[in-house]
Amino acid sequence: MQNKGKRIVTVTMNPAIDLACTVPGFAAGAVNRVAGYQSDAAGKGVNIAGLLRKFDLPVTVSGFLGTENARIFEKRFADLGMTDEFVRVPGETRIGIKVLDPESKSTTDINFPGLAPDAKHMDRLAEIIEQLSIEAGIVVIAGSLPVGVAPDSVGRLIRIIKDQGAKAVVDTSGPALAAAVEAGPWLIKPNDAELAELVGRPMDSLDDMVAEARRMNASGIATVAVSLGARGAVFVEDGQAMLSQPPKIEAVSTVGAGDAMIGGLVAGMALGLPLKERVRMATALSAATVMQAGPALHDLNTAKTLEPRIAITTFQGGG
Ligand SMILES: Nc1ncnc2c1ncn2[C@@H]1O[C@H](COP(=O)(O)OP(=O)(O)OP(=O)(O)O)[C@@H](O)[C@H]1O
Ligand SMILES: [Mg+2]
Repeated sequence: MQNKGKRIVTVTMNPAIDLACTVPGFAAGAVNRVAGYQSDAAGKGVNIAGLLRKFDLPVTVSGFLGTENARIFEKRFADLGMTDEFVRVPGETRIGIKVLDPESKSTTDINFPGLAPDAKHMDRLAEIIEQLSIEAGIVVIAGSLPVGVAPDSVGRLIRIIKDQGAKAVVDTSGPALAAAVEAGPWLIKPNDAELAELVGRPMDSLDDMVAEARRMNASGIATVAVSLGARGAVFVEDGQAMLSQPPKIEAVSTVGAGDAMIGGLVAGMALGLPLKERVRMATALSAATVMQAGPALHDLNTAKTLEPRIAITTFQGGG
């Protein structure tokens, strides 16, 4: 397949240092004791890149990184064998604290403010992405935008990626997703809530979601995935629509579920897998990620063993 062996680029404009702490019986307004914690260089594009490296695919990471606390990222990129093309921005990359309570099975998020890249940093990022898109097969833009970066910056990057002949994959939400869709990416993966916001009305039935996904597919987005949490995901490609359902699993942490699904779809494309096998692999990878703590899937085998238990049903018709 044409994407085989080609470099994959992931763009994270708003990365984060994830500090995950386990606090049994966590209570607001009280003194809470941390039973264990882990600090990770993260952000959606960085997580996706991590999964792609498990498949031994060549990966370059880009986006914006704060100069003050870049070390934890640089170490991860070096450890995992990723090429670092992040634009450095003065200040600190944001920290996101996740409090996991194993008793109530809840996650509490405390998100710090992030960097504020200016127009000059955005122009630099656009230049880097233009350069990288000449050789890359796929460029993934994932996550939210930092304060002050216009929603259409995603549209701008998509147009640059397409002009250089690469495929643009986008996972974002709100106005940035709307601007992305306008620019005609190659793949999007909104969840049900993001899709409802995009179309501007509630999406209650599966049929309704499939119809919207078909409409976007017909308008030029090659692959439209709509993820539905524990219910799995809907996929539309070349007018074909299918629902992929994971088996019932013990959910430990849903952090990184969406990233694993994107990573699986992109890896499947890079490996030249047909749609159904890509869908099966992506669903298994995301379910396996949910079965463990933290956004990074430790072992591809967990996903492999889930693959035969993924139920895929095809939707008939094409209207
Ligand atoms: N409880 C679960 N059990 C099995 N699989 C799950 C579960 N939750 C999520 N998944 C898998 O992960 C995929 C993505 O999850 P979800 O729809 O929650 O994405 P998301 O809302 O974009 O998540 P994120 O917060 O990572 O952006 C689902 O389509 C499904 O395949
Ligand atoms: Mg998501």
